Amino acid sequence: METGRASKTALGVAIRRAAHQLIDKPPVLDDPIAMRLVGEGHPRLMERAMHPVGRDFRGFMAARSRYTEDRLAEAVANGVTQYVVLGAGLDTFAYRNPFPALQVFEVDFPATQVWKRSMLERAAIALPSNLVFVALDFEHQTLADGLAEAGLDLHKPAFFGWLGVVPYLSLDAFRATMSVVAKMPAGSGVTFDYAVAPETLSPIGRIAFERLSERVAAAGEPFRLFFTPENLEAEIRGAGFDRIEQVGSDGLNELYFQNRADGLKLSPLGLGMLATAWV
Ligand SMILES: C[S@@+](CC[C@H](N)C(=O)[O-])C[C@H]1O[C@@H](n2cnc3c(N)ncnc32)[C@H](O)[C@@H]1O
Repeated sequence: METGRASKTALGVAIRRAAHQLIDKPPVLDDPIAMRLVGEGHPRLMERAMHPVGRDFRGFMAARSRYTEDRLAEAVANGVTQYVVLGAGLDTFAYRNPFPALQVFEVDFPATQVWKRSMLERAAIALPSNLVFVALDFEHQTLADGLAEAGLDLHKPAFFGWLGVVPYLSLDAFRATMSVVAKMPAGSGVTFDYAVAPETLSPIGRIAFERLSERVAAAGEPFRLFFTPENLEAEIRGAGFDRIEQVGSDGLNELYFQNRADGLKLSPLGLGMLATAWV
């Protein structure tokens, strides 16, 4: 995408999380800030997010954030005090952070951050004192330098959340960021989602993938990077990580969508996968 303009896909996913708060009861991701942040100014996008056809995507958007925040909680329980939200978009974790000692760094394109800050101001959402904004482009700037300048202690473990970003990157940018995390002290980790190589999807999965990829391309943010679970595992091991966990729709359904009165669960189309790599 262009570095000079705010991300449209960031708005799209934030609206899904806000819609999730309004119509999926109980929410898989409990996010009282989501609706306040996006506001009432996007009725058509909100209508689409609430439509039955959008249920699966909305469920995945909520589940991927919940899963990442659960991994973060695990890291915090093991002593991590730094959380880096890579490609933060309109992520709201920092504004409802339950861990007083956790320092949060939001990394994104400068234009997306300016836009987010104006939305936070409009919604009168206060900036917490333990939040730092780090404006940079993973394709062209060194993440480790940017984070160190912003105050991240590279000698202490940190957890990284990297949602909705990897499919938009080049393989080089993906590898560069993974190598930054891999060099962090033991106890560090990263959770990200990735797009499954379309040729490995079922025919219906492929149609759903093509629709989604047309939409993001039309927003100026085309998908470029795909993995299979096997080649991702090899990629992460090659980057030097010790422990890897991967979860797809079935695993997320088991974790978060059992016994719901509304029947909400993820379809087996398998468009997106989540991976966590621990140092
Ligand atoms: C689909 S949005 C996801 C936002 C957020 N992680 C979430 O789940 O709500 C993708 C985000 O990645 C950011 N992004 C994409 N490519 C980037 C790059 N090369 N450098 C910095 N940020 C980038 C965009 O600005 C946008 O905020």
